[in-house]
Amino acid sequence: MCGIIGYIGREEKASDMIMEGLAKLEYRGYDSAGIALATPSGILVEKTKGKLVNLADHLAQIGFPKGYAGIGHTRWATHGEPSDINAHPHWSQNHDVVVVHNGIIENYMQLRQELLQNGDTFLSETDTEIIPHIIAQYYEKDRDPVRAISQAISRMRGSYALGIMFADRPGELYAARKDSPLVVGLGRHENYIASDIPAVLSHTRDVYFLEDYDIAILDTEQIRIVDRAGHSVSRDVFHVTWDVAAAEKGGFPHFMLKEIHEQPHVVRETLNSRLLDDVDAPKMEDLGISKEVLDGLKRIYMVACGTSYHAAMVGKYLIERVARLSTIVETASEFRYRDPIIDEKTLVIVVSQSGETADTLAALRMSKQAGAKVLGIVNVVGSSISREADYVFYTWAGPEIAVASTKAYSCQLAAMYLLTAHFAMLRGKMTPEEFHELKGDLIGLPAKIGEILNQEEEIKKIVDAVDPLNVFYVGRGLDYYTGMEGSLKLKEIAYLHSEAYAAGELKHGPIAMIEPGTLVIGIVTQKSLVEKTISNLKEVKARGAQVLCIATEDVDPSLMDGVADERIIIPAGNWMFTSLLANIPQQLIAYYMSVKKGYDVDKPRNLAKSVTVE
Ligand code: M6R
Repeated sequence: MCGIIGYIGREEKASDMIMEGLAKLEYRGYDSAGIALATPSGILVEKTKGKLVNLADHLAQIGFPKGYAGIGHTRWATHGEPSDINAHPHWSQNHDVVVVHNGIIENYMQLRQELLQNGDTFLSETDTEIIPHIIAQYYEKDRDPVRAISQAISRMRGSYALGIMFADRPGELYAARKDSPLVVGLGRHENYIASDIPAVLSHTRDVYFLEDYDIAILDTEQIRIVDRAGHSVSRDVFHVTWDVAAAEKGGFPHFMLKEIHEQPHVVRETLNSRLLDDVDAPKMEDLGISKEVLDGLKRIYMVACGTSYHAAMVGKYLIERVARLSTIVETASEFRYRDPIIDEKTLVIVVSQSGETADTLAALRMSKQAGAKVLGIVNVVGSSISREADYVFYTWAGPEIAVASTKAYSCQLAAMYLLTAHFAMLRGKMTPEEFHELKGDLIGLPAKIGEILNQEEEIKKIVDAVDPLNVFYVGRGLDYYTGMEGSLKLKEIAYLHSEAYAAGELKHGPIAMIEPGTLVIGIVTQKSLVEKTISNLKEVKARGAQVLCIATEDVDPSLMDGVADERIIIPAGNWMFTSLLANIPQQLIAYYMSVKKGYDVDKPRNLAKSVTVE
């Protein structure tokens, strides 16, 4: 995830403070870094691809000054590959405004087009570069920085945390935010901005959390915060009591829990990247899949590993059921060695958080060689899969640090929902009116995730009260795939033996395993299958299993009476999207089970975040 630090003070040490702050943000993952420094003769900008040490070496080599005010950035590539040019800060056309940015500007193409028509030129492929250009355009008119920032942000759709400097105002720093966190740190004769508290924690524990549309103006002695209209607003000073390790995790005890809680935000980012307010179809032109391409296909494969494989299973189910396109899902390690039928009439969709998984990458290469077109659903921009695939659908989960994938999975599911709608519309299986309704349901998802996260305490209590010998996750339809993901998570971080079964399969064997001490987690979200699954749960209950139901609120509670020992009720809604919602409690169950057992939640034994070897 990108990181921002800004410093302004009476002592000549700004570049040191910025480099120190950037080092504190390294844990978030990044691919390039940069710094801007105010000097009497204008703003200096330096940036380099790769680790911070590259930037530090470069600054030392050119004798970069210390200065009194500046901003710095670590970039996690979104628009445009990791490179010196795409790294932040970015300039305005005449080098009078410099910006660092976290977030995504959704309408940047349209704004860029307008600026190009005005004669502006761009150096990078980023969405960020339009921001200083627009601010400068307004600033030229009346040299009022707050008005210029406010007018610029009123043109931008998306999320942003911004650090801004004006060349003719070396004694001031500016900051603004919407849907992307930004704090302002209070010092003595010095002040800071930062995307994350760890960046400033060794210098101050007093911060303001900026709210959406706040604009902050900092000099060495004071901080003023105004709203979009330029009226002063007051924000409470928050005194940070966390230590550095806790602060890196945003105050959460583990990265996994932090990432679980980031889901409303990141799912919104994934959806927003493909949804337009006034258009009743997802924005997918860049994927190269037109009606003609789709009609000409003989087969679609989805290939992935682990959690990404489970997202593919959900994708297959939806694409077949909604778009009526037959789709085959395979684990990459099998696919690559079994000589599957692949030709130029094949579309291979590879799904990967890291974009580096060796088996998935090998499947991609093999498919391309056999003439297929490959679409990557990838989280890490600039990763091998994103570079080698013909087309890329980025999920915007940001860096996932915990080994157990949580937020990346939810974003993969959001991608599957959008892809399904795209395919269905191209095939005439979904009308714009139907998509309009679906879009409303999609937009409502982040709030529903939030509602489930509010049940965290109750879920923890349920976990604290059970001590199973083994666990079965059962469900039908999409609920079966949800169970597969729940089971993997539990194995990964709680080292507890568990299996996922299609509920109807229990009686074909696994029911022999059911005895007191077995926990069966029944996922019940698919209306037409509720009674069938509940019948299967009755069978395990009768054999001594403890039963926990994860059910949508529209399931008749009386059906679960006498069956469910415990129940977690999640919001109801579109049948497709409950697959994402039902997984949130599963993540929390695995997390609290691992915590209860005292395991290393973020770095489970024997596992690596990115499996780059076979
Ligand atoms: O980076 P990828 O999505 O390609 O990784 C695939 C699997 O290795 C990964 O999902 C793994 O199963 C996770 N640790 C699951 O939490």
